[in-house]
Amino acid sequence: MHKSVLLQEAIKHLKLKKGDLAIDATTGAGGHTQALVAAVGKEGKVLAIDRDKEALKIARSIIRGENTIFAQANFVDIEKVARKNGFNEVSAIIVDLGVSSMQLDQADRGFSFKSRGVLDMRMDRNQEKSAITVINNYSEESLKDIFANYGEEKRAKAVAKAIIAYRKKGQIETTDQLAEVVRGVIPVINRGGKKIDPATKVFQAIRIEVNDELKSLESALPQMVSLLKKEGRIAIISFHSLEDRIVKSFFKKEAKDCLCPPEFPICMCNHRKSLKIVTRRPILPGEKEKGLNPRSRSAKLRVAEKI
Ligand SMILES: C[S@@+](CC[C@H](N)C(=O)[O-])C[C@H]1O[C@@H](n2cnc3c(N)ncnc32)[C@H](O)[C@@H]1O
Repeated sequence: MHKSVLLQEAIKHLKLKKGDLAIDATTGAGGHTQALVAAVGKEGKVLAIDRDKEALKIARSIIRGENTIFAQANFVDIEKVARKNGFNEVSAIIVDLGVSSMQLDQADRGFSFKSRGVLDMRMDRNQEKSAITVINNYSEESLKDIFANYGEEKRAKAVAKAIIAYRKKGQIETTDQLAEVVRGVIPVINRGGKKIDPATKVFQAIRIEVNDELKSLESALPQMVSLLKKEGRIAIISFHSLEDRIVKSFFKKEAKDCLCPPEFPICMCNHRKSLKIVTRRPILPGEKEKGLNPRSRSAKLRVAEKI
């Protein structure tokens, strides 16, 4: 089962009161959602969103009570989904990015190079594009860019080349086939005495591409701010530097009045700040949490408040 990351820290910073409206944009197994439900009490309401139907089914079976509304949706449509459900002036939004342990551990979801499964990686299984589509149809150049940009993989070019060579013999359809191709190009990495599988970054990159994760986050953030009421708070937990960079720079931009270049004598952009940054530095899990839940090791929590 999925262990929620930075749960106490996130809930504490959201400062919810009984009767508040709150949104969990990435419900998963419902750990954070449950904490929101407890914080807003019977008088409040929680909107629990996830794009994965199977995750919502699990969350629904755990979270009881009539004050939780579940919605299968991509948070890229959060404003529409929230307003449709009467969530207009919300006190808190939580976003816990990435994939859940259930998604990773279920071999047939195709997210993990540790088990043999069909190369799927779709969070929403109704979506057409899967990892098979990406690996078997994208050009060498596009694959290289994806591995370099979304995986920050130094051997991106060599991996893309090896995939194209393999494709001449047949399709790459399973996680172990792809992992083997990557392992044939990148040597095992030894970090602090721990062996890192060479396929790690390539799998992350393909997952990001299949689910359009970074662009979804970028376009959801302004919508989330517009849903918050004054002094409402947003808490975002990210798991790699690409996500964290987007959150950090969005918060920074929204905490500033004018975004014009310094050489402009007067403001031409009319941008007005909408957020106050609550966490100057991201909150990281403590040693205890990292020991109990290795998945939390790379987590970073950032919180901001609507002004
Ligand atoms: C790390 S898990 C969340 C775990 C959850 N906070 C808990 O405590 O159980 C991330 C979840 O977000 C969902 N997700 C990721 N991107 C999404 C998006 N753009 N829209 C909606 N859900 C998304 C995934 O399907 C996954 O279930």
